[in-house]
Amino acid sequence: MSALHENPKAPVEEMGVVVSRKEIAPGIIDLFVEAPKIAEKALPGQFVSFYCRDLSRLLPRPISIASAKEGKVRFVFRVAGAGTFEFASLVSGDVLRLVGPLGNGYPNTEGGALLLGGGIGIPPLLFLAESRKNAGDTAILGYRDENLFLLPAFSSVVDARVATEDGSYGVRGNVLDAAGDVNKPYQTIFACGPMPMLKAVARYAKEQGKECFLSLEERMACGVGACLGCSIKGKEGRKRVCKEGPVFNSKELSWE
Ligand SMILES: Cc1cc2nc3c(=O)[nH]c(=O)nc-3n(C[C@H](O)[C@H](O)[C@H](O)COP(=O)(O)OP(=O)(O)OC[C@H]3O[C@@H](n4cnc5c(N)ncnc54)[C@H](O)[C@@H]3O)c2cc1C
Ligand code: FES
Repeated sequence: MSALHENPKAPVEEMGVVVSRKEIAPGIIDLFVEAPKIAEKALPGQFVSFYCRDLSRLLPRPISIASAKEGKVRFVFRVAGAGTFEFASLVSGDVLRLVGPLGNGYPNTEGGALLLGGGIGIPPLLFLAESRKNAGDTAILGYRDENLFLLPAFSSVVDARVATEDGSYGVRGNVLDAAGDVNKPYQTIFACGPMPMLKAVARYAKEQGKECFLSLEERMACGVGACLGCSIKGKEGRKRVCKEGPVFNSKELSWE
């Protein structure tokens, strides 16, 4: 038996079979894939490397796990370029090469939490909300407009609130504009979203004296810690998002 199989947490390579694919907002794809080995190991905040069938695109594309149960893994992604365009064209029964689960996810914490998701940073927080069910958490989901993808799934497991940039639904503005309205006590903030949002969340958590865990979706190359292509500046030297992350305690980052 190889060393890879001795560690129960070690990522595996698996040929996933597409169960369903649906466009749930313009350019946002909801993909369910039968991948029982990855589903069994997956933890909230981890991601999976997707390999393209077009071999001119060798590097894998990292996509966060939006949910994992009963042998199926759910992914929700935005069509950004050629790789995600290829994955968006998958249909049920198609086979896809996956490696995962990868990276370190969100830690287990005591007490209530505030979950802050911005744009395509929303999907990984669904898996977290599902696994923390009944923890008395509040989730604030930040969208551009009235395309409130995944809101029903969040509402079924957590107190879910909405902020929209154009004011078409919920609070006008970003997730932090809605955070002041949360009067339920919480100890921890979990967030995923664009970098400017994460920096603002880290500052907010520091002001509020809360523990804060941020998932960084930096551009990656190898995805397995070998190339340093995803490294960011931490307080104690550089950190690889794909290996030490993608989830970091905000105190570890130099821009808290
Ligand atoms: C840990 C992790 C988890 C991720 N999870 C998700 C997810 O759940 N859903 C989702 O939609 N996307 C997610 N991403 C981003 C996703 O990996 C990229 O959008 C994808 O790799 C783009 O590949 P492509 O071939 O379609 O586009 P490319 O042709 O490679 O790039 C198209 C455009 O997107 C930009 N881009 C590529 N990667 C990123 C990135 N990481 N951040 C910002 N801009 C980027 C490029 O600069 C370029 O402008 C995640 C990234 C990381 C690192
Ligand atoms: S992508 Fe290569 S080290 Fe992270």
